[in-house]
Amino acid sequence: MRKVLLDVDTGTDDATAIITAALSPDIQLEAICTVWGNREVDITTRHTLMVTELVGKKVPVYKGCSGPMVRDLLPQWKQEYEFPKTGIDENGQEFGYHDDFHLPEPKVKAEDQHAVSFYVDYLRHVKEPVTLVAVGPLTNLGHALKLDPSITKNIEEIVVMGGGIAEYNITTCSEANIWHDPEAAQIVTRCGAKVVYVPLDATHRAALPKEYIAKCEDLHTPVGDFFAEMLRERIKVYNALQPLWRKDIAPIHDALCVAYLIDPKVLVDLRHVHLDVSMDTGASQGMFLIDTRHFHAPENCYIAYSGDEKRFGKVIMDVLKLDADHRKS
Ligand code: BDR
Ligand code: CA
Repeated sequence: MRKVLLDVDTGTDDATAIITAALSPDIQLEAICTVWGNREVDITTRHTLMVTELVGKKVPVYKGCSGPMVRDLLPQWKQEYEFPKTGIDENGQEFGYHDDFHLPEPKVKAEDQHAVSFYVDYLRHVKEPVTLVAVGPLTNLGHALKLDPSITKNIEEIVVMGGGIAEYNITTCSEANIWHDPEAAQIVTRCGAKVVYVPLDATHRAALPKEYIAKCEDLHTPVGDFFAEMLRERIKVYNALQPLWRKDIAPIHDALCVAYLIDPKVLVDLRHVHLDVSMDTGASQGMFLIDTRHFHAPENCYIAYSGDEKRFGKVIMDVLKLDADHRKS
């Protein structure tokens, strides 16, 4: 069983990453760290605690950074590239990507320790290497790796949801998680551990169709219902604000990273490349620069060019069915 640390900016798709990791028999979820991104860090932390209670797992949650490592010092920060995050439905109601969760207020609290110091302490002392799955801006990891670069010796692999090869969602050439904190992403890319990027090109191709809504509802479990509701909302948002290659599908970006730990074949065409993150401001902030020259610089990470919807859907349904079976017994 793999020991895993999750880093999330919860967020509907982050919620599904937590659910998948918490319910999988292949994963020992050691801790969850929260970060700013989809929403402010207090909200992403609250959402995270709600989801851990929903799945009934006692996992320590560490609140992390509330803004990027350095970008918010720049005068251009967030001025030019605000993008449409909400739409209005047929009833005149506003909807968005990462609205408030309709779950009970969490009873548990986050740990006192900050996520960055947790990473450093934990990774200095852990007895066997652990896998990190980071699906928000990489700010917590960027700080931890700066504080103590030697922690990489205890990292088996870092799986990151972020970036785009030919698909983008913030500017004409960048993706949200990387755009939010390019410096942190560059630090992670260069840290020397095995890094696997799961960009939009993979998550969009593995997007789940609306048929999964009924499949999840048929389980008649709180987690199945939450998943179904999340998918219904995301499909509505994607149809309206970010139409994909097919109608009535939605990418569940962050859960694809966790699914990769359970079935590596959910990622298709995984290439070993040299990648740099653009430190520019403006449209190319956080853009992925993949060195495809025949005299390219040494490889520093893996990146998935595509994803497999069927395999991904199976991983999701397997963990949800396992949860349903446990609840019955
Ligand atoms: C990524 O950004 C966040 O909005 C999502 O949770 C996902 O991690 C997609 O670009
Ligand atoms: Ca996320």
